[in-house]
Amino acid sequence: MTKQEIRNRIEQLKREKSAVILAHYYTTKDVQEIADFLGDSLALSVKARDIDASIILFAGVNFMAETAKVLSPNKKVLIPVPEAGCSLAESCEAEALARLKRQYPEHKVVSYVNTSVGVKALTDVCCTSTNALKVVESIPREQPIIFAPDRNLGSYIQKITGRDNMVIWDGACLVHEEFSLEGILRLRAEHPEAKVVVHPECKAEIVKIADYVGSTAGILDYCKESNAEEFIVVTESGILVELERRLPAKRFIPAPTIGSEGGCNECHYMKMVTLENILSCLEQESPEVILDEDVRKAAEQSILNMVAIR
Ligand code: 13P
Ligand code: SF4
Repeated sequence: MTKQEIRNRIEQLKREKSAVILAHYYTTKDVQEIADFLGDSLALSVKARDIDASIILFAGVNFMAETAKVLSPNKKVLIPVPEAGCSLAESCEAEALARLKRQYPEHKVVSYVNTSVGVKALTDVCCTSTNALKVVESIPREQPIIFAPDRNLGSYIQKITGRDNMVIWDGACLVHEEFSLEGILRLRAEHPEAKVVVHPECKAEIVKIADYVGSTAGILDYCKESNAEEFIVVTESGILVELERRLPAKRFIPAPTIGSEGGCNECHYMKMVTLENILSCLEQESPEVILDEDVRKAAEQSILNMVAIR
């Protein structure tokens, strides 16, 4: 089948089955183009809750599809590649978080949405990088917090809020940790007018030199509103597709990783989703996200708390 034939067949199946495709900005250009809705992790969660469809096909990593299923238990949620994980989610197992909670019984748990459903079941309120600051600020200042699992986002929020009562999990996104400060400073010297836009999953030394720090949706908004014409982009490469589509007159320069000359880093999990496996998943209505109902229910409130804070 040609690429166009695959696209046509996917469109036909979407209509026949009342299916929608939700895709994250880090997926490939082909996948972004076939999506009915493209977004950051917060917007995708809200969409999954509200959308009127029998089937949601989640083009992204598995914690995102699980989140959609928690919020939409009566819809069939499909995930083309269930093995598409996330280094952050993998850095925090539910049993280990349960142990930490026993050590700090007075602490409320704020978890990044990049976690398993088992971790969400132990969480008071989830957050994404779009609303992490608002989520932490919604908790009384004197209330101590466990923040899991991203040490970079956690430290960034701790720095802005000045809260010294946060226990921060020691996890990280391998994609964002690999950006090179030296390489970014070199690029900035070559492009002195360019603004440096950084995802908060990056290391503190990179966050420190940023002109803007924010989620994928935040970066898109900032680049639109800024008067600058050039941007050094320090996040996963998929965002460049949407930046260039929305803002064709502006120039986006991918930040280099340690030991490389250039090119934004890629999340190999996000890139596992292809037109071919989307088609096969829609045809077979499998793989499907199936959750244990007790765990789903236990995780639900933490995600509802998250989507209520925007
Ligand atoms: P956003 O919430 O900014 O879309 O990021 C999701 C993610 O996985 C970042 O690595
Ligand atoms: Fe997870 Fe990092 Fe990939 Fe985002 S970019 S899905 S945090 S591994």
